[in-house]
Order: sequence, then structure tokens, then C-alpha cells
Amino acid sequence: MNNNILTKIEDHIGVATLNRPKVLNALSSELMDELIEALESFDRDREVRVIVITGSEKAFAAGADIGDMAEASFLDMYEKNNLARWLKIKNVRKPIIAAVSGFCLGGGCELAMICDMIVASESAKFGQPEINLGIIPGAGGTQRLTRAIGKYRAMEVILAGKFLSAHEAFEAGLVTRVVSKERFYAEAMILAREIAKRPPIAVQIGKDAVSKALELSLNDGLEYERRVFYSLFATQDQKEGMKAFAEKRPAKFEGR
Ligand code: CAA
Repeated sequence: MNNNILTKIEDHIGVATLNRPKVLNALSSELMDELIEALESFDRDREVRVIVITGSEKAFAAGADIGDMAEASFLDMYEKNNLARWLKIKNVRKPIIAAVSGFCLGGGCELAMICDMIVASESAKFGQPEINLGIIPGAGGTQRLTRAIGKYRAMEVILAGKFLSAHEAFEAGLVTRVVSKERFYAEAMILAREIAKRPPIAVQIGKDAVSKALELSLNDGLEYERRVFYSLFATQDQKEGMKAFAEKRPAKFEGR
């Protein structure tokens, strides 16, 4: 491990910080290995209820590491199939908040979009500039951006390499909230703490059900939601939440 990712756990929140400042947190293969390992470890750890991924004030991440790919052939890319492991991030069950400032480009934007919420500093710039390199996004950009902001705006970002400011991204539906550049990390942590107070299993099942809305037909999604809704009545947290409501006291959720 090379400290490409710094981790800490604070108030039930697992924080992973991208740490290649000299190259604007370009997502090298080693960095992605370390990030996936950190996220999977947070996902296994009962102490962690919410995950935050962040970078620096200057860059969340400026994309996949171009140096890693410049000389690659089709066969190199096809056989390594490096981007397939990004599915492991999608499979993390705990909610992930991206705390984004500065450049959030290419694979960086795709990483933010795999997260469940994006808190952006007003200095954030979102984009998929792969087209300028003779390629297109490969870690979900054409699919997730289109679902987030619609075909007609996504086409401009992906085909013309247009950057979206934080406010444009917010207006387009890509960002949960925009805050000052001094506060982006603090505000992401406040949001994380709000979620960490909630019943952890219901939070994870809620994340799963909302995510399914982008993948299933409406009828299948409604059916899925009903089933997982009923399943929450098997948790102690449901008993505690409803008892606490009746007794007019705050609930104490334990993730059981
Ligand atoms: N990969 C490797 N190195 C990168 C990088 C990247 N994606 N982005 C920036 N860097 C490096 C630069 O090479 C530079 O290194 P040196 O100091 O050694 O020259 C350093 O970071 C600082 O960058 P700049 O000097 O370019 O900084 P700037 O402020 O002038 O420009 C920028 C910032 C607009 C983000 C510019 O760096 C840039 O255009 N970066 C590339 C963005 C990009 O094309 N991303 C897509 C990558 S492909 C991809 O992500 C595929 C996928 O879907 C998975």
C-alpha cells in the first residue's frame, strides 16, 4: 500500500481521501485497488454506517491516470479489464457521499456518480473530457450522466467536452447540494452524521431500493420496494423506532 488513499473512521463515518495531489488525484490502478479495499473494509465494519469519499480543495479527481493508458493496445485494455472492478464500488451497501471540490473529471466524475449523494463546493467542475483524448468515458459516464441529467445535456458534456459548474450540475440534477469551498467537507460530514443517526439496515435497504429505481421497470421496482419494506419488520430497529415514537423519546438504533 502506498498511501494513495488515506482512511479514518469518525462518528460512525468511514472517510476515504484520494491522495495523489501532484497529479490532481488521477485514478491510477494502485489508487483504485486501495480505494476498493478501503470501501469494502468500511462496508464490513459494523462501526461504520456511512462512507465519505473526498479529494482536495483543488481536485476531487481529474480522471483515470492518462499515463497508465497512453500506450495501451485494445488487447491490453480488454485483457486487464480494469474498469470491471468498479462494480465492487456499486456493490457497497452503505451509503456513500462524495465531497467534491475543484476538478471532478472523467473517471473522477464517474467515481462521484457511483456515490449516492454529491456535496459540491461552488468551485467544483464536472466533466467527461475523454473525447479530447480520442476515447469516451468507460466507467459509467455515458450511462450514469445520462440518467442524472438527461440525454441532451449529457451529449454536450460527452461529445463537446463541456464542463459543468457546481451550480449548473445542481440545476441539472447531478449534485445533492452546493456549498462554499471552505465548507464542502464539513457539510458532507454533517449530512453523513444525519444519516448515521438513522437505523443502519433501513438506510442500506433504502439505498438499495432507490438504486433499483434506475434499473427496474416501475412495476418491478414497486414490487421490490414492497418486499423490502415488509422485510424491515423483522428488525429490532423497526420495533424500537415505533416504540420510541409512541413514548415521545428519541429512538436508539443499533442496526439489528
Ligand atoms: N492523468 C494523469 N495525470 C494527470 C491527469 C490525469 N487524468 N490530470 C492531471 N494530471 C497531471 C498533469 O499531467 C500535471 O502533471 P505534471 O505537473 O507532472 O505536468 C498535473 O496533474 C497538474 O495538471 P495540469 O498542469 O494540467 O493542471 P491545470 O490546472 O493546468 O489543468 C486539468 C487541470 C484541466 C484538470 C488538466 O490537468 C486536464 O485536462 N487533465 C486531464 C483530464 C482528463 O482528460 N480526464 C479524463 C481521463 S480519461 C478517463 O477518465 C477514462 C475513464 O472514463 C475511466
